[in-house]
Amino acid sequence: MPSMSSIGIFDSGYGGLTILSEIRSLMPEYNYIYLGDNARTPYGTRSFDVVYRFTLESVRQLFSMGCNLVILACNTASAKALRTIQQNDLPNIDPKKRVLGVIRPTAEVIGSITKSRHVGLFGTEGTISSLSYNIEIDKLYPDIKVTGQACPMWVPLIENGEAQSEGADFFVKKYCDALMAKDSAIDTVILACTHYPLLYDKIRRYLPENVNIVSQGPIVAASLKDYLSRHTEIESTIMKNGECKFYTTEQQEKFAKNASVFLSDQITAETISYK
Ligand code: DGL
Repeated sequence: MPSMSSIGIFDSGYGGLTILSEIRSLMPEYNYIYLGDNARTPYGTRSFDVVYRFTLESVRQLFSMGCNLVILACNTASAKALRTIQQNDLPNIDPKKRVLGVIRPTAEVIGSITKSRHVGLFGTEGTISSLSYNIEIDKLYPDIKVTGQACPMWVPLIENGEAQSEGADFFVKKYCDALMAKDSAIDTVILACTHYPLLYDKIRRYLPENVNIVSQGPIVAASLKDYLSRHTEIESTIMKNGECKFYTTEQQEKFAKNASVFLSDQITAETISYK
């Protein structure tokens, strides 16, 4: 395990930048490496096997770049690959390294937000069909009913810069209406895809006023801070120069340009091919 490391943040593309930005604002002192597998995005429509393989390759890449701790800032990867990587792969790669996801920390806070005990979930087809949130929330709060709605048009709208357009309203309303038609007692909705905070204003407009909308960034950031305070063996290896490097498996200029939609900053990025 490298003595000096960065925190690795992985996503299938740009969505994890919404998580990175919250993590960096809470803990600006650490060094981070962001990796977006833009060449193979989207993951949301792919099979378990493919998402697992792509995610494992990406995690190995971040390990080889000096990360001891990797956050899967992608719900689809967390749903379909995290458990196998933690249980089967990490013991062989390096038992001291850690990979964490975004589902468990989100599930943990839901019990204190919902009053009706009816929770809705927007996610990719992969995340919804995996039932990962239903299973995690049921373990912690068996009295909560979770209803999922896949939103396959939302990621393409965001990736193509259409999140603020009038055309996006049609698909935002469509999935909001579909979710509430399944269970009108829902009082809390989780945005269980890292892209969706970019549609927050429209989602707010088309869900009933009394419904809480939960974005994951602040939750994952707080959970990571807590994790690092409890795991000093990892925390003590993380460099604290406040640097963040961005890597993509696609074109670096395109990544840097599109990333500015997700971050308030202009950044530079570098293209990498996996070893
Ligand atoms: N960022 C992914 C997630 O949170 C969605 C994008 C994709 O389909 O690759 O689920």
